[in-house]
Amino acid sequence: ALRLLAPQDLAGLRVAVSAGGTREPIDPVRYLGNRSSGRQGAALAVEAAGRGADVDLVAANLAGDVLAAAAHPRIRIHRVGTAAELATAMKDAAAAADVVVMAAAVADYRPAQAAAHKLTKEDGILERIDLVENEDVLAALGASRREGAAPERQILVGFAAETSTDADARRERARRKRARKGADLLAVNLADADHGFEKPDNAVEIIGPDGEVVAAVSGSKRRIATALWDAVVALRP
Ligand code: CTP
Ligand code: CA
Repeated sequence: ALRLLAPQDLAGLRVAVSAGGTREPIDPVRYLGNRSSGRQGAALAVEAAGRGADVDLVAANLAGDVLAAAAHPRIRIHRVGTAAELATAMKDAAAAADVVVMAAAVADYRPAQAAAHKLTKEDGILERIDLVENEDVLAALGASRREGAAPERQILVGFAAETSTDADARRERARRKRARKGADLLAVNLADADHGFEKPDNAVEIIGPDGEVVAAVSGSKRRIATALWDAVVALRP
């Protein structure tokens, strides 16, 4: 349905949203990255602010136009580069947040060490890069909530991009992922040639606390954002 006026159903709530893709330095000029633009996370922040929330947007390497699209008097933007920086900023913001949404594509691994100077072919070391695993930020936020370190009744939301074309297999993986990380909701993004990274449109299923699909929505990232916040509001007592 077309909404002429946004409902103010998030008024008084603090929300923390991560967006974009982290970059893990190899040397001063190279990094390991991913293709997340941050448009979905920015749309989530804008939708939440429009519905009355105070938003901390942790922005990992967003392009200027995406950052500009997130400009709003109730959105504070914290720019980060690496997964470690994102983890620190999100833990900070989550400590006082009623809702936390991890929409960022966090690098699973980083180079074991970033070289202080630009690596050259003469160095030979570019043939192999040793990797170490990054902290799972969403799982860490889930754990600290279980330990009572988060505000009471905090709602935790994850995103996952799944490329399997088998819808049942995709859902099963998503259910396991949601439970493993201790999130309330997991929005499962169908990442294929027509959807997902760098595309204006998405197709998303939102998995709820009992593993059920609470919403299925496709269209603009703004539309997905509306459905996601509707699902969050539905969880609140
Ligand atoms: N996530 C995170 N920290 C990481 C990796 C992922 O917080 N180091 C979060 C993402 O922001 C997202 C959710 O976890 O909200 C799912 O990310 P995804 O990459 O699908 O999960 P992984 O556990 O990394 O599984 P996979 O092996 O499929 O990449
Ligand atoms: Ca991952």
